[in-house]
Amino acid sequence: MVIPIEDSTDPRIADYVRLRDVDLRKSLEGGQGLFLAEGEKVIRRAIAAGHGVRSMLMTAKWLDKFGDLIDDAGGVTVYLVSDEVMEGITGFQVHRGALASMERRELPSVAEVLRGSRHVVVLEDLVDHTNVGAIFRCAAALGVDAIVLSPRCADPLYRRSVKVSMGSVFSVPYARLKDWHDGLAELRAHGFRLLALTPAESAVPIEEALTGGRTALLLGSEGDGLSSRWLAEADQAVRIPMSREVDSLNVAAAAAIACYLLTAAAR
Ligand SMILES: C[S@@+](CC[C@H](N)C(=O)[O-])C[C@H]1O[C@@H](n2cnc3c(N)ncnc32)[C@H](O)[C@@H]1O
Repeated sequence: MVIPIEDSTDPRIADYVRLRDVDLRKSLEGGQGLFLAEGEKVIRRAIAAGHGVRSMLMTAKWLDKFGDLIDDAGGVTVYLVSDEVMEGITGFQVHRGALASMERRELPSVAEVLRGSRHVVVLEDLVDHTNVGAIFRCAAALGVDAIVLSPRCADPLYRRSVKVSMGSVFSVPYARLKDWHDGLAELRAHGFRLLALTPAESAVPIEEALTGGRTALLLGSEGDGLSSRWLAEADQAVRIPMSREVDSLNVAAAAAIACYLLTAAAR
């Protein structure tokens, strides 16, 4: 069903409002159990991963091009808007042609994602959705089996993460710890060796610590890095050696290097 919408305040398109307003989006998406996928590839990957489509929003020029996609989405309602209305609703130009409002699914438990995994990444309190998306993309590309998030880590299904991950948030299994303080004990109970990634000079170079077996790479937040609690809980602090002129790597860059070294060492 295709429904033209001429007014950006029309309540039928409330799923799509103010995409740049992070706080509003967090409460809207959490409350309604939805997330937004942008662009054909990402929407297709979300559908293939089993997420239901609530509706789609696009301008007229994309309607024919996305005919197959609309069919794949199961005869979903498509809201058709002008470029001006699109920008009025979302607050920016949607270059990838279409947005889809998708249904969230219940996350698996930490135990479920750890079972059968050998290499995992654990993210403590990352705040930047771009970094979270980039780390999912690295994990998918480099053969990491799963990602575990601290209770306060940014949402992988936030639009920006979904987009930057290019849909890897749908292919890499992930779960969220319920408990920050004692959460790492659950990984250890599953036989994982915990390597805390830190730029600190006192840490050992990561290559020296990769001994095979089940390994979890712990990565810290953009500002403060890993908490003293998680550093103390880890089996070993490891670093990627850097030039002395730089304090630290961006967390997604650190993740890419560490994931490559971890999975390459196991090949
Ligand atoms: C921007 S850094 C945080 C910097 C923070 N001042 C610190 O000392 O950890 C974010 C995360 O990236 C990872 N990281 C950055 N540079 C690293 C390096 N050279 N070796 C290992 N991990 C690194 C760590 O997990 C860190 O918690």
